Amino acid sequence: MEEMKKGLEGVVALDTKISFIDGIQGILKYRGINIEDLADLSYDAVSYLLINGKIPDETELSEYSQELKKNRRINGKQIEVLKEFDFGIEALDGLRTAISCTAHFDNENNHHTPDANKNKSIRLVAKFPTIVAALHRSGHGEPIIEPDSELSHAANFLFMLKGKIPTKLETEAMEKDLILSAEHELNPSTFSLRIAASTLSDMYSAIICGLCTLKGPLHGGARKGVMDMLDEVGSQENARDYIVQKLERKEKIMGFGHRVYKTYDPRAMIYKDVARRLAIEKADCSWFDMAEEIEHILYHEFIELRGKPIYPNVDFYSAVVYKYLEIPAELATSIFAMGRVSGWIAHCMEQYSDNRVIRPRAHSV
Ligand code: CMC
Repeated sequence: MEEMKKGLEGVVALDTKISFIDGIQGILKYRGINIEDLADLSYDAVSYLLINGKIPDETELSEYSQELKKNRRINGKQIEVLKEFDFGIEALDGLRTAISCTAHFDNENNHHTPDANKNKSIRLVAKFPTIVAALHRSGHGEPIIEPDSELSHAANFLFMLKGKIPTKLETEAMEKDLILSAEHELNPSTFSLRIAASTLSDMYSAIICGLCTLKGPLHGGARKGVMDMLDEVGSQENARDYIVQKLERKEKIMGFGHRVYKTYDPRAMIYKDVARRLAIEKADCSWFDMAEEIEHILYHEFIELRGKPIYPNVDFYSAVVYKYLEIPAELATSIFAMGRVSGWIAHCMEQYSDNRVIRPRAHSV
């Protein structure tokens, strides 16, 4: 029998053209393009790139954005079904149920042609923000806000969530958040989705697998964990005691460490810059300063304890950005999914295009 690698660490499970990570140098590319260059594009352009394999030209981008805008609305009956449930603090449970519901309202749900998959991909990318905002507002007894086709993907989401047009920097922050969350090679949710796709299950089912796996606190759920932690720490002065005590209890600090990156996560670097700029615009550096203090403390504590530092991952400064955007913590994982859906779709299509069922073995012990 082959050697068993716990957590599949270092195991290469498939070839992909969608993204590339160098965890030692801290490099991330989508379709061969560095994340630092992509972060300045629109989410629509990056979504198109991931799903279609090339940066869209002006006409392609305009057509893609129009298609997304046309498909933003969700079925009224679907909203009535969703109002039956109380999703409490786990907004992702609502999103998961809502995507299941969306599948039932999609005539092409069980059509597997490339054209049907392309149509479904547009509906999925377009409807995720509408669903997240609608679920949140109806769960809080607030009227649901219709999508505004004058606004970009990111600005429209913030508008549907809060009922006011975001500032230029808030829009940029949300746009970057969705881009930075959009894809990350064979992370747990994408792997689980590719397993579902490899059985030739439909795209909605595969995306729901991704959502279920993203939920966990060691994956996408860490972003909410960081937001909760920032609330618990409360001030820069409390950071040291809080972190040291957590480490003494051998508890994980959310938003730090990574299976692949052994250096600074390049996405965390971009989020940190956005968080700093938001802090300045809002004339409130308290969240940013507290977060930076936590980063410094952990860096040095890890060198002391283990002889090597630990770095923030994608979930750390993204949580600080959400604090400045006044996004409730319970929405953090769902918003992560709103960005990630484009990467998930790209992986689904890549799996369908050259499929072999994914079926590893286990040692019997
Ligand atoms: N806080 C405290 N200790 C940590 C942390 C942390 N955030 N991360 C790793 N360690 C310790 C860990 O306890 C382990 O110690 P020991 O060798 O004594 O058992 C050692 O470092 C190696 O860590 P590991 O958990 O074996 O590493 P892994 O590759 O299995 O897990 C990880 C990676 C991201 C799950 C882990 O670093 C972690 O749990 N981080 C906190 C949760 C988090 O932020 N998750 C988001 C991941 S990035 C976004 C994504 O892909 O979704």
